Amino acid sequence: PHTAVIIPAAGRGVRLGPGIPKALRLLNGVPILVHAVRAMAAARSVATVIVVAPPDGAEGVRALLDEHPLPRPVALHVVPGGSTRQESVRLGLAALPADADVVLVHDAARPLVPVDTTEAVAAAVRDGAPAVVPALPVTDTVKQIAAPGPGGTSRTKSQGGEPVPVTGTPDRALLRAVQTPQGFAPDALLDAHRRLAGLGGEEGATDDAGMVERLGLPVVLVPGHEEAFKVTRPLDLVLAEAVLARRRI
Ligand code: C5P
Repeated sequence: PHTAVIIPAAGRGVRLGPGIPKALRLLNGVPILVHAVRAMAAARSVATVIVVAPPDGAEGVRALLDEHPLPRPVALHVVPGGSTRQESVRLGLAALPADADVVLVHDAARPLVPVDTTEAVAAAVRDGAPAVVPALPVTDTVKQIAAPGPGGTSRTKSQGGEPVPVTGTPDRALLRAVQTPQGFAPDALLDAHRRLAGLGGEEGATDDAGMVERLGLPVVLVPGHEEAFKVTRPLDLVLAEAVLARRRI
């Protein structure tokens, strides 16, 4: 079996604060992206890792990865990404080896995902599921708000400001927070990108399984892991350093 991983790492990571792209921030002296590549390469079924770099940064990312040894030998490709996450994944798929029987898509921003989570996702795809997502129950209660009106700004990424009216409270027991790596039968993900090309930005799916769902294919969840959290805000860097420190003991 041959599992290939696409790591989209072309985002700027503005929520982490100003400065260098998120994937290049250091965690214990090693770039977040390198942690993510190492986490994927540590899984025994993984033979190929395709890193999607910022559009003008492929050479720099290649040089950076060459400086850092991997835990196992894998074929490592670096390709330039696009302006949306979906576009970056599509560009990564173009480098997918023809003999891959599982493709994983893993956020560079989830550097600490345990190997067992990665292997569980890949195994569920090999067992026949077209799309597999690691997920955890939601601990916060979640409120729904109205969609912004025409000309309104996106509220999803806004912090603070005006009070916002609540329109509903979904039953928390029926919600799951999804993580990566998400796993796919290669044809399912390739087909989704072919058929949903052009959708992007606000219309685009916010995760890869969302695209496969739109084709009407079944998507299943497997248990995620709390260490697979996404490094998004400054506090997440503190948490990530603490997890690494605990692993060294
Ligand atoms: O912004 P967010 O944290 O949701 O990004 C998730 C992942 O998608 C990150 O690893 C980021 O680098 C990647 N991404 C990308 N190309 C973009 C935007 C985001 O590869 N244009």
